[in-house]
Amino acid sequence: MLDKLNQLCEDALAELKSQDKQDKIDTQTALDEWYGRVIGRKGAVTLLLRRVGELPREERPAFGRRANEAKQALEAAYEARAQEIKAAELACSLREGAIDVTMPGRPLPMGRLHPSTQVLRNIYDIFAQMGFQVYHSPEVETDEYNFQWLNMPPHHPARDMWDTFYTTQEGIILRTHTSPGQIRAMREFCPEPIRLILPGMCYRYEQISARSEIQFNQVEGLAVGRHVTLTDLKGTMIEFTRRLYGAERVMRFRSSHFPFTEPSVEVDMDCILCQGEGCPVCKYTGWLEIAGAGMVHPVVLRNGGYDPDEYSGFAFGMGPERIAMQVYSITDIRQFWANDLRFLEQF
Ligand code: PHE
Repeated sequence: MLDKLNQLCEDALAELKSQDKQDKIDTQTALDEWYGRVIGRKGAVTLLLRRVGELPREERPAFGRRANEAKQALEAAYEARAQEIKAAELACSLREGAIDVTMPGRPLPMGRLHPSTQVLRNIYDIFAQMGFQVYHSPEVETDEYNFQWLNMPPHHPARDMWDTFYTTQEGIILRTHTSPGQIRAMREFCPEPIRLILPGMCYRYEQISARSEIQFNQVEGLAVGRHVTLTDLKGTMIEFTRRLYGAERVMRFRSSHFPFTEPSVEVDMDCILCQGEGCPVCKYTGWLEIAGAGMVHPVVLRNGGYDPDEYSGFAFGMGPERIAMQVYSITDIRQFWANDLRFLEQF
């Protein structure tokens, strides 16, 4: 029986050390299986030890001693192998997970600013250089601000210039232009002089088409003070246009009509694509319309708190989407809110 024990022990240790590919014990699972088979509760060695009673009494102490040694040796061998396996697995995972720091990085998809926002920011920059601050006013407006205080009483035919979204609340509408901000700004700053731009979304009840959207941005400009003249308006518009589109731009001011300015003008510049020769972008006129403008009407000045005998001012309104369409030759205004990445990623 002692021989059998020695044999079992020897075989088990040999198995553990075996380098033979096929039955190499090189995973924790295989090692546990070995443990169970040899010194687990039903392992060969354990079972053999239980049979100690079958030996003649005088042989039992020697067998017992040998049995303990064997068990310890096997346990120790198990522990050692377990350590080796752990180290090998760690080395392997380090090798497989190794990072090549010289490899070029994967580009992260970067977001970008919407073309309207880009144009808006260009406009802010230029007017900031000329001393205009940005003033925000609400998109949901009252009829008074959007029309009445801008010199358009109820049922005034001039209101036909703006197709309006009315809300279910009497007198509350979506602003059709940024001009109501003129009144808000004047009432806030009066009697101080004013030099502001008022950007933001406007809404019109339009048939949506390549040329018209129901929402779009406008940038209003407003300057109020003593001795502000039409010349200041012209100079400001020319300077702005040349800073945005280039120093060689030629401007044209056509007389026009808005109820809240007097006199009123349409501001044109020569077409940036054909330099005034005539092309589809300018519809063969050679000119691009960039703003409506004029001297603030005395009634509007008074509604803002300024005495028109002492103060005067100019105002203008332009459309950043229109500007972007001109700069980038965009033919369909619906692209701006269509959320089509093929369009947006070009800017
Ligand atoms: N509010 C006008 C529009 O939307 C533009 C404008 C602004 C004209 C300021 C004159 C002065 O058409």
